[in-house]
Amino acid sequence: MEHENGRRMALVTGASGGIGSACALRLGQDHALFLTDIDEGGLRIAASRMKQAGIAIAGTAVADLSGDGEALRIVALARGCGPLASVLHAAGLSPAMGSASEVLRANWLATEALLEALETSLEPGLTAIIIASMAGHLCLPDNDIDAILRAPCSSKAIDSLAAELDRLGSGDAAKASALAYNHSKRANLLTVMRRAAPWGMQGARIASISPGLVDTRMGRLELEAQPQAAQILAMTPLGLVDPKDIAATAAFLASGDARMLTGCDIRVDGGATGVLLSGPAG
Ligand SMILES: NC(=O)c1ccc[n+]([C@@H]2O[C@H](COP(=O)([O-])OP(=O)(O)OC[C@H]3O[C@@H](n4cnc5c(N)ncnc54)[C@H](O)[C@@H]3O)[C@@H](O)[C@H]2O)c1
Repeated sequence: MEHENGRRMALVTGASGGIGSACALRLGQDHALFLTDIDEGGLRIAASRMKQAGIAIAGTAVADLSGDGEALRIVALARGCGPLASVLHAAGLSPAMGSASEVLRANWLATEALLEALETSLEPGLTAIIIASMAGHLCLPDNDIDAILRAPCSSKAIDSLAAELDRLGSGDAAKASALAYNHSKRANLLTVMRRAAPWGMQGARIASISPGLVDTRMGRLELEAQPQAAQILAMTPLGLVDPKDIAATAAFLASGDARMLTGCDIRVDGGATGVLLSGPAG
């Protein structure tokens, strides 16, 4: 599974963002990279920085991964540079960045579309790593919503879930966006577990990483916009996560050392989820 320069190929989404670019820099140590993001200027800057750092950039493409056929187009372009060894999916929106519907499209629909695109022809040995969130672990499961999240994702499913979340948020748009974030990240955890068996039969692995609060544009925006985020940070045993901590875990998951890890999630959250689920030390 090699690019023409002899390195393994990786596709990185959200490549101009804080976590995506840190993971790209790390995976670029032993992969040639195909980078994609919706942000054209940010993608150009990220690719040029990585080239300057000596990383092999096999290609770049601007795309909204939640758009019709866009994930398929990106996967085909990346595979055109060589069979994929690793996929790191970091594209996403936080609650402060969009409406419930926009958050569901970026975090749930785009992830499902990307995985379906990969499944058109899974490379044996492929590892896909989805950047989920501790929000997916903290989200209170709801049977009716889980039934929607387990069914195939479509624009119609997004509309009906957004309407349900609007009702649960009593018409408060910020509450609906927060619920959309939590449930879309729970959807990421569920899809990783569900796909492990069919992927394993084809010799491919899939796993997720659940960051806590990370020092990126998104993390800082949430800290400014949501008082709850600052409270969570204050309770986090190891404090704010560095994007490089996520990248180190991604590199491990993409390596042979993780060959028996699939259908699982690794929390890189400084201990926040454990504290919040178990209650404060007494
Ligand atoms: N930063 C945190 O504190 C934190 C915590 C938990 C989980 N996460 C998750 O980590 C991932 C990366 O977050 P980050 O902190 O690097 O944020 P970021 O805003 O720095 O990066 C996200 C990137 O995704 C891109 N993007 C957004 N929507 C897209 C779409 N529809 N198609 C293609 N690209 C799109 C953006 O342009 C941006 O470059 C997200 O899924 C986020 O939910 C972040």
